[in-house]
Amino acid sequence: MAEPRTVVITGASRGLGFASAVRMYFEGWRVIAAMRAPDNAMPPLREATGAGQGDDRLVGVQLDLLDADSIASAAEAIEESVGAPYALVHNAGISAAGMVEETDTMLWQKMFATHVLGPVALTKALLPSMRAAGQGRIVLVSSVAGVRGQPGTAPYSAAKGALERWAESMAVEIAPFGLGVTVLVAGTYDTDIITDAGTTDTRDLGGPYARLHHTMNSRGRFAVSFARRPERFTDGLVAALDERSAFRRRGVGPDASMLLVANRIAPAAGMHHVSRIVLGIPRQGSMRDGAWPLTVGQRAMVFATRVLPNPLLRRLANRRELKEQ
Ligand SMILES: NC(=O)c1ccc[n+]([C@@H]2O[C@H](COP(=O)([O-])OP(=O)(O)OC[C@H]3O[C@@H](n4cnc5c(N)ncnc54)[C@H](OP(=O)(O)O)[C@@H]3O)[C@@H](O)[C@H]2O)c1
Repeated sequence: MAEPRTVVITGASRGLGFASAVRMYFEGWRVIAAMRAPDNAMPPLREATGAGQGDDRLVGVQLDLLDADSIASAAEAIEESVGAPYALVHNAGISAAGMVEETDTMLWQKMFATHVLGPVALTKALLPSMRAAGQGRIVLVSSVAGVRGQPGTAPYSAAKGALERWAESMAVEIAPFGLGVTVLVAGTYDTDIITDAGTTDTRDLGGPYARLHHTMNSRGRFAVSFARRPERFTDGLVAALDERSAFRRRGVGPDASMLLVANRIAPAAGMHHVSRIVLGIPRQGSMRDGAWPLTVGQRAMVFATRVLPNPLLRRLANRRELKEQ
């Protein structure tokens, strides 16, 4: 029987990485689940896959992308247990909310270390054996925020954008050796990273950007209510690992696929306004001198007071009061 192909998945303890590890195990791959705390995270993964302690198709490896020694040891452990992996999936990630003015340098450093510098170090450590094997794939999980910079999350957008540019450069370099690269642009999936608890929040809700936070927060929460189950992301990964082209960028999920198409056809200035309008951000110059432009909901209320008869308005106001009690 042919040896199963090996895939290394970072951030396999939770969310998309966990779902991916389970799926690839069931697809018959040998899965190296790279995670910060294997003692805690391997038992649930074994339970989800049904893999026993001695099952060599599911191996946990300690990896903290913020720690150079951990990255070097992880690469050694991977090569010791499987030789050259066929595929490396850079999935681990963190998110943050806050305007550029509200974020400190430490957060930018952590974001770039997690999404770019750590993954680059792990890739460099594994590339010699993968190159020698003459086949394989490196998959990098990006985001719609990496395709176009999104407001309120610049460090995340910038790090994902850097990851995409790194992937494009590397793809041209390693293709002659038989290796390919896929960027998976993930849409919205129901994992910790999109929750308040799973995000570093540096927003100043009483500061100069409060008006923007106000609408971005309510619209963001609405968008997140359409998040898909993490298991649905794994179809994209299966397709990516079967790809043979030297480079591919693939949207996973309808929101990601739509953004990729829009970004290809619309001019950059147009996409700026799309982001602005979708997130309810008022137009250029409208907040000069501390002005506080009304939100769409507030404008609708002002309009309603002009056109609706007084008794009806009173009834609506009473109903609202009752609801708020
Ligand atoms: N969910 C979405 O809607 C969405 C959308 C677009 C892109 N993405 C991307 O998808 C990837 C997976 O995210 P997710 O949704 O699964 O988020 P998640 O549930 O929060 O999981 C994040 C994973 O990354 C790991 N991680 C964080 N920092 C790490 C570090 N320094 N070293 C090693 N591992 C680290 C976490 O490990 P611990 O358990 O040890 O913390 C965890 O396994 C990320 O790259 C994210 O940017 C997600």
